[in-house]
Amino acid sequence: MTTLSQCLTAARTAGLDRLDADLLLLHAIGVATEHLHQRRSWLLAHDDDPMTAQTQAKFDQLVQRRKAGEPLAYILGHKEFFGLDLLVDPRVLVPRPDTEILVEWALACIDAPSSGTPGAPLRLLDLGTGSGAIALAIQHARPLARVDAVDASADALALARANAERLGLPLQYLQGSWFEPVTGPYDVIVSNPPYIREADPHLPDLSHEPTMALTAGPDGLRDIRHIVEHAGQHLAPGGWLLLEHGFDQGTQVRELLQAAGFHPVASRQDLAGHWRCSGGQWRPDDPGQAGAWATPAPVK
Ligand SMILES: C[S@@+](CC[C@H](N)C(=O)[O-])C[C@H]1O[C@@H](n2cnc3c(N)ncnc32)[C@H](O)[C@@H]1O
Repeated sequence: MTTLSQCLTAARTAGLDRLDADLLLLHAIGVATEHLHQRRSWLLAHDDDPMTAQTQAKFDQLVQRRKAGEPLAYILGHKEFFGLDLLVDPRVLVPRPDTEILVEWALACIDAPSSGTPGAPLRLLDLGTGSGAIALAIQHARPLARVDAVDASADALALARANAERLGLPLQYLQGSWFEPVTGPYDVIVSNPPYIREADPHLPDLSHEPTMALTAGPDGLRDIRHIVEHAGQHLAPGGWLLLEHGFDQGTQVRELLQAAGFHPVASRQDLAGHWRCSGGQWRPDDPGQAGAWATPAPVK
């Protein structure tokens, strides 16, 4: 009879990373995979338990899916983002830890003393919400804000709605292309739009995720250009537009923001030191100083 620990060793020998193997084994056994640390202690305590033939067959199947490149989050059916447990499946992009930088920046904008209209709830829009990750994290952290979330994909919105219901968060979801279904004005607009070049050599590694969540024309900037160009019509004066983008797109995105009249314009780094988010303030009555951009300290 094979034990749990023997199964794990076999999966790691077959090339799986340790965390993936642990989580897939827990999933095969039927132990919930949230609260990771508790669950790994469970595994340690049950090292010598025997695997039934049925559980072993299930585990082998999960290992094969992972080895074929399917994201762990799709196999498990959920992913943690900004402390929230979100349902995910192939209808949506798997939320990435890098996107938490955008959430932290949006929360800082919401909390800025000059934000919003006194006495009115602050309004925030998440464009291309996917699983709802950004919008849900912000609504959870700032329950008084009014959060709208847009996606062109009805499938993605169905999952985002399920996440909101599960977490008991009162967002408004709207289907359409970028600003098409919304009426502003908003105090903060955030977006993690598709930004990968159509010929990017890394795309095959992402083949399990929806193409419409990934690519944006030959230079990857098609959707960012559209959002930057139209955001001013939907932002309150003094409101912020914050965008995630590729590690090598910071200069171009800042130039787009400046050309559209945003100032100040700033970028934030990810933990690897890449400028992964850029944003600007919409101040139509104050043209500011062309060419200047602020470099805030990297988010830790
Ligand atoms: C990179 S994913 C981001 C998903 C989620 N916000 C996140 O950070 O995990 C981009 C999202 O934009 C959506 N999208 C693509 N084109 C769109 C459009 N024209 N209008 C609205 N949403 C669009 C996709 O369906 C996808 O959910």
